[in-house]
Amino acid sequence: MDFFAGLDLGTTGIKGILTDEHGKIYTIENEKLTLQTPKPGWSEQDPLEWWNATKNVIKKLSQKARQLNGTICAISTSGQMHSLVAIDKSGKILRNAILWNDQRTSEQCKKITNILGGEEEVLKVLANPILTGFTLPKLYWIKENEGEIYGKIDKILLPKDFINYMLTGEFATEHSDASGTVMYDIYSMNWSQYILNTFGISMTLLPKIVNSHSIIGTIKKQIARELDLDEKTLIVAGGADNACAALGVCVTTPGDVMISLGTSGTVVAPTLADKPDPKGRVHFFVHTIPQTKYHMGVMLCATYSLEWFKEKFLIEDYETINREVNKVPVGSNGVIFLPYLNGERTPHKDPNARGVFFGLSSYNNKWDLVRAIFEGVACGIKDSFEIIKELDVPVKNIRIAGGGAKSDIWVAILADILGSEIQRPLVNEGASYGAAILAFSGFTGKNPIKVSKDWFKVKDITVPSGENNERYQKLYDKYKKLYQRLKDLFLENF
Ligand code: XUL
Repeated sequence: MDFFAGLDLGTTGIKGILTDEHGKIYTIENEKLTLQTPKPGWSEQDPLEWWNATKNVIKKLSQKARQLNGTICAISTSGQMHSLVAIDKSGKILRNAILWNDQRTSEQCKKITNILGGEEEVLKVLANPILTGFTLPKLYWIKENEGEIYGKIDKILLPKDFINYMLTGEFATEHSDASGTVMYDIYSMNWSQYILNTFGISMTLLPKIVNSHSIIGTIKKQIARELDLDEKTLIVAGGADNACAALGVCVTTPGDVMISLGTSGTVVAPTLADKPDPKGRVHFFVHTIPQTKYHMGVMLCATYSLEWFKEKFLIEDYETINREVNKVPVGSNGVIFLPYLNGERTPHKDPNARGVFFGLSSYNNKWDLVRAIFEGVACGIKDSFEIIKELDVPVKNIRIAGGGAKSDIWVAILADILGSEIQRPLVNEGASYGAAILAFSGFTGKNPIKVSKDWFKVKDITVPSGENNERYQKLYDKYKKLYQRLKDLFLENF
């Protein structure tokens, strides 16, 4: 029997799924990853930890495939976007990866934006602003702060491309991840010679760009033996996690919109038009499927806001949390939460913003605070929808993916705040399902859009309550005002 493996290299862990040609899942394997925070606002990981965890996951998938008298024909990986891995000529990793949620590069972002002639110019050329999360400022930071390391860089890779390099020895990326580097020209769909020239970056530092469903190569023989894989196992390029998650829930055509409620919260709206947000509040990147780009709003701390609160202040499990939150009335008894624990991208582009609990009174208990987190994150997601609608991008079918989608109450709050129906997929395995679609497409040559349509099924639809929607409209207005009033104070903290 032919099996396909889809991996998702996330921030808190790596997940792998084993599917057949119809998208049926046979096993799901997970390994945890550690996040290093050497200084406040910094966020790093050791790529070798990714690699070892990836090998463990693949080995377990392969063993399952063998038990079922089959083999894995192709593996594809989705990964956290923007994070930078630097390696030298011998393939040695030069430093920890600097991650997408790292905020150290504020200064570099300002400098890069000025060198390029200000934000308006940047948006014209790159369709995206220069933000702390993106790859170019990280490279620039290494140049300015770790000159010796910068001098030794032979190749820079994105997380999943590093895994593909370890599996095959090939240096490659694909459009969905390349477009998140701000070194990529979204219109010609190639590395931006202009950016490279302006910042003295040699083209040789960058991997070649292929399609997400292109075959990168065959697995290295020795790795195949170590992981109990067939020597003919193909490695397919894969994609950026948000784009893969969208593919996994069949968000492939304009009108389909995905909410991903994971560590970060994203809203992905595909488009066939080259019309980015002129204000740069939502990103404009390339999808994992031919001819399609997408607008994406990104909030940095979605389920992470709850994880943070749970880890620091709660002893209850998620089942209890969901049950208790359900008992708290709409509006959390007056408490509003701004989910800007590590700064925010959409809609504020503000690395200095911070989390806020507003409106506390002696009446409140901890469950009011937790419901306020659910509501605050949902308001942050609504911010992205407001911008996407303002850009005239159609919103017809909203589908949700990610860990947060498992919570009925969180999905209900989202539906109420958005005033829209939300579809939950039968398979909620996020980006790894999209990666499996790419593995299957790469192996068979089938169009990933068609495969995604064949594999996707709706599990249930959450319908909004009109009454709650009206009440939430008032809460949302107050939520928006709060940031505007606090904006300058966030700056004073620094
Ligand atoms: C998107 C982004 C995050 C990461 C999370 O721009 O930075 O969603 O991709 O892995």
